[in-house]
Amino acid sequence: MKHLLSLETLSATAMESILAGAADMKRSRGQHACQPLKGQVWGLIFSKSSTRTRVSFEVGIRELGGQALFLNANDIQLGRGEPIKDTARVLGRMIHGAVIRTFAQKDVEEFAAFSGIPTINALTDDEHPCQILTDIFTFQESRGPIRGKVVTFVGDGACNVPLSWAFAAAKLGFELRIAAPRAYQPDEAFFQRAGATHFFATGSGPVLTRHFDFPSGGKIICIEDLQAAATGADMLYTDVWVSMGKEAESAQRLRDLSGYQINAELLKVAKPGALVMHCLPAYRGKEIDDATFEAHAQTIFDQAENRLHVQKVILAWAVA
Ligand code: CP
Repeated sequence: MKHLLSLETLSATAMESILAGAADMKRSRGQHACQPLKGQVWGLIFSKSSTRTRVSFEVGIRELGGQALFLNANDIQLGRGEPIKDTARVLGRMIHGAVIRTFAQKDVEEFAAFSGIPTINALTDDEHPCQILTDIFTFQESRGPIRGKVVTFVGDGACNVPLSWAFAAAKLGFELRIAAPRAYQPDEAFFQRAGATHFFATGSGPVLTRHFDFPSGGKIICIEDLQAAATGADMLYTDVWVSMGKEAESAQRLRDLSGYQINAELLKVAKPGALVMHCLPAYRGKEIDDATFEAHAQTIFDQAENRLHVQKVILAWAVA
């Protein structure tokens, strides 16, 4: 029995093993010889909205022989203040695994600690591990191993998606560039936590660039200069400027992040044939323009579909 609570705590070996299983899971859809969730009921406990994560987990659980029970956190006593540890101990006696989307990372960890059943993080304020494993799989499907490649994240560089990307870069040995205003970049303490062994800064003021190196060969660069961040990149990636739970900051975020858009001009400086990815939902005209989104829709919707295949591997891994 295993948990997938974060990429911070998932080993590089486990990440590589999940990624290695995804192509076969995708190819064999509809004809799986193995039904690892047969006879099991998995609960999806969601405190935030979801299209892709909810549907891909519900379908994936069924395709692996199990049944899915969707529990909107506001419809159960959790939403009226029943402690997580009590909810976990009750559900742990009734269901066989849990997929949780919530706000605080510690809530997913507490559920895992008290429930005694495999627990999967389906997005918290700190991480979105299933999304980033899927993104890496999608990249590798068309571009081969991500080790040594350059991924440029554009936008709110301190939200859950770039933070999970950072842990992946630290462990899998690729370069992640976070292009964001200074106030939307992770702080040094985060990179120490991620295992950075070497830190140096170049430039100053608005061109301050912070470099973090990791024993895997991975590198993370935090930079305000979007053009420099995109130059030569193998992939440009973005996410919404206003994450769930940050709606009160919408006006400020739209002002602060307005220059951080993926568009045709930016793509000109990336590597020829660079991939463009978006974890969706997309807000056209904000983090990405409509023409660029539509020009790269094949990749973006492959990425969305791949949530199903990668998460099925995660489910099978969790119960193995
Ligand atoms: N990317 C993602 O997690 O999508 P949903 O919010 O629709 O699940």
